[in-house]
Amino acid sequence: MSNKTPRLSRKDFLKLSAATVAGGMMMTSGVGRAMISQSTSSELLMRPIPSSGEMIPAVGLGTAQTFGQPQNDDDFNQRKEVINTLLNEGGTVIDTSPTYSNAEAVVGRALDELGRRDEAWLATKTSISGKQAGIDQNTQSFSDLKTNKFELLQVHNLRDTEAHMETILKLKEEGRVKYAGITHFRESANDPLTDAMLKHPVDFIQCQYNMIDRSVEQRLLPAALEKGVAIMINVPFGRGRLFRATSGKDIPEFAKEFGVDTWGKFFLKYILSHPAVTVAIPGTVHPHHVVDNIGALRGRLPDQGERDRMIKFIENL
Ligand SMILES: NC(=O)c1ccc[n+]([C@@H]2O[C@H](COP(=O)([O-])OP(=O)(O)OC[C@H]3O[C@@H](n4cnc5c(N)ncnc54)[C@H](OP(=O)(O)O)[C@@H]3O)[C@@H](O)[C@H]2O)c1
Repeated sequence: MSNKTPRLSRKDFLKLSAATVAGGMMMTSGVGRAMISQSTSSELLMRPIPSSGEMIPAVGLGTAQTFGQPQNDDDFNQRKEVINTLLNEGGTVIDTSPTYSNAEAVVGRALDELGRRDEAWLATKTSISGKQAGIDQNTQSFSDLKTNKFELLQVHNLRDTEAHMETILKLKEEGRVKYAGITHFRESANDPLTDAMLKHPVDFIQCQYNMIDRSVEQRLLPAALEKGVAIMINVPFGRGRLFRATSGKDIPEFAKEFGVDTWGKFFLKYILSHPAVTVAIPGTVHPHHVVDNIGALRGRLPDQGERDRMIKFIENL
């Protein structure tokens, strides 16, 4: 399996690492105790949002392919249990969109029935053309997600960015949105996304980054670190392609030294060890996969030498 981009240079990695060590911390889940150190088994890796200093668990949950249109009660209950497990394990971040079929309504109903809205950190999107159409869509999202406030509202895929940023910043002023963001996922959008990040007063950028597509390492991630913008990583498993590529293969011995015992942890720890990354949002409908993904927040992260070995391993598959 080949990669599209050169690796982060050692000089850049050390420079970026120094920046993140200053801000990156481990925190005991639910207790609020912070320290700059390696985590132990009970501690989860938390990352600060640069614009506020708020700490969030560095793995959350995506809902694009997985949460829309549950066919029956069993399907809904399974998704509800995924959210329950995320919160039980110490995760909080849930990313959704009004264009993920009825995922917002499923997330809203699940959080409502669980009585756990206040424990979740909700990110959704404006995903339509036209300023008023965006405002109407936001109104529907508040209703479907059964909440008066989003932690993060993002312009989806750079669609009508100028018009929607005005609305999102107004909602932020009114206290109905805590953070403003913009998303994309295509490599071809990396430059326009970086330019939009530099132009607008955003707190978050969401982009694709995984062991197959590392194109954001070139400009977007260093620029986000420089400006102090949080990075949310979508498609961390290449939509499952990384699992298919490693199916039946043994995890390399060297990765066990930094706590990797599953492929999910291998792929996530690679992403999380980039100092610009704030949170990754893998999608799943399986509670045991949520446990696995949150497990990537325990133990140390790979250093640059280990990151190089991880990439070589994937390239040689
Ligand atoms: N432009 C945008 O804003 C944008 C674009 C794309 C995606 N996103 C966001 O990013 C999220 C993640 O992307 P994605 O869901 O498309 O792809 P992904 O997270 O890269 O991969 C999801 C796949 O990985 C599997 N999986 C998850 N955890 C696993 C584990 N521990 N072990 C084995 N398999 C596991 C899932 O299967 P199971 O269900 O069987 O676990 C699913 O097939 C989306 O849900 C969405 O919220 C945003």
